[in-house]
Amino acid sequence: MNKKSPSMLIGIDMKSISQEIEIIKKELAAAVAAITHETSLEAVRVAFLGRKGKIADLMEQLKSLSVEEKKIVGPLLNQLKTEAQEQLDACATTLKEKELAQKKLLQKNFDVSAYRYNELKGTSHIYTQIIADLEDVFISMGYDIADGPEVENEYYNFESLNIPADHPARDAQDSFFLEKKGMMLRTQCSSVQAREMEKSQPPIAIFCPGRVYRQEATDQTHDFLFTQAEILLVDKNISVSNLLATAHTFLRKIFDNETLEIRVRPGFFPFVEPGLEIDASCPFCTTGCSVCKHTRWIELLGTGMVHPNVLRSSGIDPTIYSGFAFGMGIERIAMIKYGINDIRLFHSSKIKFLNQFS
Ligand code: PHE
Repeated sequence: MNKKSPSMLIGIDMKSISQEIEIIKKELAAAVAAITHETSLEAVRVAFLGRKGKIADLMEQLKSLSVEEKKIVGPLLNQLKTEAQEQLDACATTLKEKELAQKKLLQKNFDVSAYRYNELKGTSHIYTQIIADLEDVFISMGYDIADGPEVENEYYNFESLNIPADHPARDAQDSFFLEKKGMMLRTQCSSVQAREMEKSQPPIAIFCPGRVYRQEATDQTHDFLFTQAEILLVDKNISVSNLLATAHTFLRKIFDNETLEIRVRPGFFPFVEPGLEIDASCPFCTTGCSVCKHTRWIELLGTGMVHPNVLRSSGIDPTIYSGFAFGMGIERIAMIKYGINDIRLFHSSKIKFLNQFS
């Protein structure tokens, strides 16, 4: 009942399918002409030849035609399919040829001697690395990190540290004084001691790294600018044995050497009493080498028990509290640890030098 009569189909449906075929042919020609790369080629293939594409759609309509009609329209549709396939294949070939030609052109113009940009990889400066290592050690022992100004006044750099204006110890540290009276570039990080002790009452445990300046002729082991770290511990019942244990522990950690020993000699620094100098056994040899200048010992730390005058001038009662302080040169530690032979390399900005610590 539902079936359409053959004559009607030939009259209406065959005509519309034929028209449709013509339309699709034109659409296909336009779509193929617009293809510029593989992705658009694939999109056109799917739109026309895909399982749900335009041609498959017509094939579906073919089912409802009579056998005679199929005999006429079927070959037309098959021809359309073949043509579409051929056109897309031809297009694919053209695309490949174009790509190949492009590659050949690039190869032809490729200059093997052309400059190649070498990407520079950044790394933290050796200062930053050593200071971070030291900070790790002292933070693990309960110390805080403290900071102070590089442009300092004479009071914190000298007076508060038991170095009055006429004290000969001022000569040992030829200073850069600023035009503004009483102001200078700090010669030592010990200036932070007094600043921190003024701020709070003990217990005080600080690690203070920073740049210091001294007016000296430069050579392989001296520079007018270098980096120090000052360590200060003030509390009740602090003695020289605490000082020695702390020095021993952190030197072993920093040089990553569990058998490192320390040796103590008397030293003079106006802000400590007694004043000491600590040497470490050479981490690189047991019989003498070029690093320890064949002595087996390396001078590393200035240290001592904080002078009662220093505690007093910062408002801390020396009859209740005592403490120790250390000073060390960061460059010296790095030079020994990494075998660096010239202190001036540290702020030379030489990439070859800096890259070794990446
Ligand atoms: N500030 C001293 C210096 O620069 C080092 C030092 C610090 C010595 C603390 C003793 C105690 O030489």
